Amino acid sequence: MKILILHGPNLNMLGTREPEIYGSTALADIDHKMTELGEHLGAEIKCLQSNHEGGLIDALQDARTWADGVVFNPGGYTHTSVALRDAISAIAIPVVEVHLSNVYAREEFRHTSLISAVCKGRVTGFGWRSYELGLRGLVDIIKA
Ligand code: DQA
Repeated sequence: MKILILHGPNLNMLGTREPEIYGSTALADIDHKMTELGEHLGAEIKCLQSNHEGGLIDALQDARTWADGVVFNPGGYTHTSVALRDAISAIAIPVVEVHLSNVYAREEFRHTSLISAVCKGRVTGFGWRSYELGLRGLVDIIKA
């Protein structure tokens, strides 16, 4: 089984970016934890980050050719991007939406996600563990 862990804009800044909201774990540490968890669950993990909407769309389209599923934190594009939603709809593999922060406890514009309806499920508010929960759920679904 192969899984893409995909991070959107500004997530490369994790560790120093608003740690009171996003925690102090760096992106490289999340990627390391997910790679180890993947080994434990029997999944090969590839991690990618892009600050660009088109780069994320390219990664999703490419994942269609090699991955069994995607764990995706679209960052701020969650709330704005019809193009990312269309890309998720266009690929036949399951995508799980994850967020470090509890978006419902924040500004109202973060309460809307344009992508949730085309994702298999959503995890929000558990810090880096949102990725862990998302990955576990995705692997279980694919195995089933
Ligand atoms: C985020 C939440 C988004 O609203 C925000 O724009 C981000 C990070 C999160 O992981 O909590 O960049 O996706």
